[in-house]
Amino acid sequence: MNTPRHTVRDIPADRLPALLRAMPKAELHMHIEGSLEPELIFALAQRNGVAIPYASVEDLRRAYAFTNLQSFLDIYYAGASVLLKEQDFYDMAWAYLERAAADNVIRTEMFFDPQTHTERGVSMQTVIDGLHRACVDARDKLGVDAALILCFLRHLSEEDAFATLEQALPYRDRFIGVGLDSSELGHPPEKFARVFARCRELGFHLVAHAGEEGPPAYVWSALDVLKVERVDHGVQSTKDPALMKRLAQDRIPLTVCPLSNLKLCVFPDLGQHNLRELLDAGLVATVNSDDPAYFGGYMNQNFIETFAATGLTAQHAWQLAANSFEGSFVDAAAKRAYVDRLNAAFDAFA
Ligand code: ADE
Ligand code: ZN
Repeated sequence: MNTPRHTVRDIPADRLPALLRAMPKAELHMHIEGSLEPELIFALAQRNGVAIPYASVEDLRRAYAFTNLQSFLDIYYAGASVLLKEQDFYDMAWAYLERAAADNVIRTEMFFDPQTHTERGVSMQTVIDGLHRACVDARDKLGVDAALILCFLRHLSEEDAFATLEQALPYRDRFIGVGLDSSELGHPPEKFARVFARCRELGFHLVAHAGEEGPPAYVWSALDVLKVERVDHGVQSTKDPALMKRLAQDRIPLTVCPLSNLKLCVFPDLGQHNLRELLDAGLVATVNSDDPAYFGGYMNQNFIETFAATGLTAQHAWQLAANSFEGSFVDAAAKRAYVDRLNAAFDAFA
């Protein structure tokens, strides 16, 4: 679906943040474990009697000075160790969903990393039950349409991914797709060719992190070997003109995460982020928060800081929100209904 363009009147830069907050949007790239705020980590550690190697919330926050993806992942996995019970997974997801609703996120497709939990003895059922219950409540109580995507950890083996898929299949109606995350460099998409082929046969949507720190070759193999429908991050694609052409022609959405890229030193500052270059090349780029508790902001913060740093306009704002609905895994009628809401919000704002 190529969303018909809604022409947007320019507005002064000082009114952009209000527009960015007001516009309905979809979030397509956020790891639910990355929404665990330090306060909740400490509360769950106490509730579950789990020891964590930080003296206080402030002490933990001070550790959030990352130099690359791996330096973040080490702390992210340590934070997730406080999650043990179904209620913990519910509380984590509910806290995120309330913040999403406040940011006018009306559709969210949340990643979860079951291997981070099952390898600590937490059952797949505990994880999925808690997250799913929060998704059901989000629809009923917040008007947020929430879905789950199971991610395989790429630093582990394909055999481990297959075992995880087997454990998850009894709950297959509770997640809409599978993804690939964790340490990118040295773990190319090809490593997971067979498990993705199996997930495709099973009818799951397919996404993968590629081109966050890794080369354009990883984006090519996510497309051609894994046959993903969306690329998570993909910002390294601008280094390869042929790849840019392919992504534009096939309308493959890129789920870009500007504050994540800044905090993990993918770009030296937000002003040098390539989001505008991706949009100008006609790619279906979107804005997302990735791991909002660790990277300094949820959806609207990502939009507001990125627009302020790069000079993107109201027309770009409409395009990014329209792209988020186009890239979402809902049917064509639901996409049209979302875009109608988007256009109405822009008309009301003008
Ligand atoms: N897991 C959580 N956040 C991630 C990211 N930005 N890249 C890869 N794996 C992740
Ligand atoms: Zn991510």
